Amino acid sequence: MILVRTIVELRSAIAGARGRGSPVSLVPTMGAFHEGHVSLMRRASEEGGLSVVSLFVNPAQFNDPSDLERYPRDEARDARLAEDAGADILFAPPVSQVYPPGFSSSVEVRGVSAPLEGAVRGVEHFRGVATVVTKLFNMVQPDVAFFGQKDAQQALLIRRLVRDLDMPVRVEVCPTVREGDGLAMSSRNVLLAPGDRERAPALYRALTAVERAVAGGVHHPDEALAAGTRVLTEAGIVPEYFAAVSTDTLAPVRRITGETLIAIAARFGAVRLIDNVLVRPAERRG
Ligand code: PAF
Repeated sequence: MILVRTIVELRSAIAGARGRGSPVSLVPTMGAFHEGHVSLMRRASEEGGLSVVSLFVNPAQFNDPSDLERYPRDEARDARLAEDAGADILFAPPVSQVYPPGFSSSVEVRGVSAPLEGAVRGVEHFRGVATVVTKLFNMVQPDVAFFGQKDAQQALLIRRLVRDLDMPVRVEVCPTVREGDGLAMSSRNVLLAPGDRERAPALYRALTAVERAVAGGVHHPDEALAAGTRVLTEAGIVPEYFAAVSTDTLAPVRRITGETLIAIAARFGAVRLIDNVLVRPAERRG
């Protein structure tokens, strides 16, 4: 694996593979790798061809400067993990490569960026994500890019971005990887205080309680979510949002009749965690 820091180096490292007609894959990340990232990198390397991992803590998507400051960083460890997972190129640019002086463009995906994370973190968050992902796609020009289902709203937004702007990239969304106790892997988990780390798996237990309620025949979202809220209350968690929304628009659903996204966000001290599951009602027999 080679480490490159500039767009010129990146393009020249990719040129050979592209010239041979090999597919190029991209795993965009902000580093602090865990098994979730590693699973995306393995998927990318299974594609064959050249696999690029980008590592860039994107200041434009942090609405809270202290969150950006606290964001865990360990490039040497990340480089080892990326190499072990089969990455060919680690692209870790400085901020000045991505946002040179005078940078004044942005990309906004309206609609799906507004609710849930957009409502809590403000429009800047997904504008920052859409802008940096567009730039990474332009820099790498991948055939395929891999994202995690844990960031379900981000994944939907990127699919919309690629479709709306005719970007020739296949977007693959890979399953959430979880700790043994169900907590979704996140770079932020290491920042949890010990007591919060113990309570945090209640997020997934709440999601699975909703899943069971829906599978058991509950169609009304309030009733289904109430099953999860009981779990949260027992764990002393008041979510920022806990919602049953359309997988297409992210608007709240009136009835759970087809595949529905159950999304949750909660704060544990200064650490915000998000998670989600896709639920669907049991098939009617006969
Ligand atoms: O999911 C992330 O790590 C980031 O939002 C992404 C897609 C790398 C853009 O900075």
